[in-house]
Amino acid sequence: MKTLAIVGASGHGKVVAEIAELVGWQEVVFFDDAFPTVLSVGEWKVLGTTEDLVSQVDRYSTAIVAIGDNSVRLKKSRYLCSKSLKLATLLHPGSIISKYANVHSGSVVMAGAVINPFTSIGMASIINTGCSVDHDCMVGEGVHISPGVHVAGGVSIGDLSWLGIGSAVKHCVEIGSSVVVGAGAVVVNNIAPNLLVKGIPAK
Ligand SMILES: CC(C)(COP(=O)(O)OP(=O)(O)OC[C@H]1O[C@@H](n2cnc3c(N)ncnc32)[C@H](O)[C@@H]1OP(=O)(O)O)[C@@H](O)C(=O)NCCC(=O)NCCS
Repeated sequence: MKTLAIVGASGHGKVVAEIAELVGWQEVVFFDDAFPTVLSVGEWKVLGTTEDLVSQVDRYSTAIVAIGDNSVRLKKSRYLCSKSLKLATLLHPGSIISKYANVHSGSVVMAGAVINPFTSIGMASIINTGCSVDHDCMVGEGVHISPGVHVAGGVSIGDLSWLGIGSAVKHCVEIGSSVVVGAGAVVVNNIAPNLLVKGIPAK
């Protein structure tokens, strides 16, 4: 039986679990550090904590972290790799991903998302529902591009940045690491690391 272990029994985890089923995983099980307080999420069982998972690498060889917090997701993804777990890459069958694009392990691309040629998505990132990332973009590790975001061509987005729902980024803009872009913002200038920007134009 082809079983995928998902770390993070959350609402986001439910979306990730369904994508896993759609792309052919026969069984999906969860691990969450809230175990045994949390024993299920949606239709799926929570079998233990992260440590329970890493102690059973022979049984659950492939995993993905479905935790919304970017730094926790990236940290846990790296931890699982260090413990010899393989990270899955989940691409919703209703997403459109160029054959010239690259989506790294531990990342999920959701329904209706479009990723155009020569764009790279770093590990443990979330490319959420109905967003688009145009050509020649460099998206770092542990990034979250929220539903309905539009990223124009040639944009770079640093590690751990979060683009809020419905925001847009003008072509060739450079967004630093750990930046938060507010919902609905329009980014027209480069953004230095660690800033929170919002509004139109985003400031
Ligand atoms: C920008 C954001 C991070 C700010 O969060 P926060 O620091 O908790 O801010 P607050 O809610 O306390 O609001 C502070 C002020 O900013 C304003 N504000 C909040 N979000 C804003 C946004 N996206 N655009 C413009 N103004 C915004 C508030 O109205 C408030 O204004 P006021 O001081 O005049 O009353 C947050 O509002 C946001 O947009 N998050 C994105 C959420 C999202 O995309 N979720 C999708 C997950 S899949």
